[in-house]
Amino acid sequence: MYINAAEIINYNKNNLADIVSKWIIDNFPYRTTEFDKCHRDLLFVIEAIETCFKNNDLTHIDHLGNLFFNKGVLQLNSTEVEFAAYDFLLQEIEKLLINNNSEAIDFCRQIIQKLKNHLLCRVKPSKILKNRRQVWEYDETVEISNSLIDSLLKDTWEATPSKNNMMPYSLFVLGQDQKKLKEIVYNNCVSRDKFLNEKTKIDGKPRLSPNFSAILSCSHLLIFTLRLEDNPSGYQRRAMANGARFEATKESTLEIGKQVASVEVGMFITSFSALCLEQGIDISYIGCFFRDMEYWKDLPFITRTPLLLVTIGKGKVYRRDINPERFADDLKPNYERIVNFIN
Ligand SMILES: Cc1cc2nc3c(=O)[nH]c(=O)nc-3n(C[C@H](O)[C@H](O)[C@H](O)COP(=O)(O)O)c2cc1C
Repeated sequence: MYINAAEIINYNKNNLADIVSKWIIDNFPYRTTEFDKCHRDLLFVIEAIETCFKNNDLTHIDHLGNLFFNKGVLQLNSTEVEFAAYDFLLQEIEKLLINNNSEAIDFCRQIIQKLKNHLLCRVKPSKILKNRRQVWEYDETVEISNSLIDSLLKDTWEATPSKNNMMPYSLFVLGQDQKKLKEIVYNNCVSRDKFLNEKTKIDGKPRLSPNFSAILSCSHLLIFTLRLEDNPSGYQRRAMANGARFEATKESTLEIGKQVASVEVGMFITSFSALCLEQGIDISYIGCFFRDMEYWKDLPFITRTPLLLVTIGKGKVYRRDINPERFADDLKPNYERIVNFIN
C-alpha cells in the first residue's frame, strides 16, 4: 500500500539524515556535536520508518523504540532533543511525500508518534543525577542560551519548597558574555586557595588547584547569596503580627538564617542539576571562596553573604579523567556510614 512512500524514503534516506543531523547540531549544540553518530542513529530511525511503510504496520518502529531501553530503563539522558528532531524529520518527510498521498503522511505521523510514545517513559531521576561529574574545564565553543537556562531555573523555582515560603536566598546568573565578572569571582577563589595553601608550598610555590578555571570557561556562573525579605507575603505579615519572627526579614538576624538558607540552596541546586543533566548540560559546585563582603565589592549586585558558586556548560575536562589513579580512592563514605535505620 505504501510501497511508493517506502521507495521515496529509501532514495532520500541519507539526505534526510544529513539535514536532520545538521539541524540538531545547529539547534542543540550542548547536546551533541558529533555529526557521524547523529547521522548513524537517524538512519536507524529512517530505515525503521521505511520498513513500516513497506510492511504497512508499526512492528519495526516498536522494535526500534525498545532498543532505547536496557532492563526497562531508558538509556537517554533526555528526550526533548529526540522529540524535536523527530518532529523536524516528520516535516522533511512530509515535504517529500506531499505529492504522493495524504494517507502516507498520516501513516508517517502515526509511526513517529509511536516512537515518541516509547520514549515518553522518562529517565529515572536517580539515573540522571548519577551522570553528574565535577568539571574542571568547559567547552567554550558550545553556546547555551540564556533562555534555556532561564526556563530550567523557572522550573526549579517552581518545584523547590521553602521554609515559611521565604526563599531566603538570591541567585545571580552570569552568562557567556560576562567574562570580566567571572574573572573577579575566579580571582576570589584563587586568592583564597593561595592563602590556604601558603603553608603547603611545593618547591617554594603555593599548591594551586586547577579546578577554578571552570569559572572562566563555563557558559553560566550562578552565585547564590543570602537575601533580605523586604516585602513579606500577607501570610507572613499576619504571622509576624501574631508574634512570629523570621530571620530573613531583618538585616540584624539575616546571618542567623544562613543554615536554613544553605540547606534550601542545596535543594534548589539538586533539582536544577537534574534538569541540566537531562538536557546534556554539565554542572559543578564550588564552595571554596572568600565569603567576606570586602572580596565582593567589585560585583556591586552582590550585597549579601555568598553561599555557593555553580558552574554550568558542556564539560570538556572532568576532574576524575585528569588523573584517575589519584582520585581512585577519593570516595564518599559508605552508604551505611551515612544512612542509619534505627530499629
Ligand atoms: C557544595 C559543594 C561544594 C563544592 N566545592 C568545591 C570546590 O570549591 N572546589 C572543587 O574542586 N570541588 C568542589 N566540589 C566538588 C566535590 O569536591 C567533588 O569533587 C564532587 O562533589 C564529586 O564529583 P566527582 O566525583 O565528579 O569529582 C564541591 C561539591 C559540593 C557538593
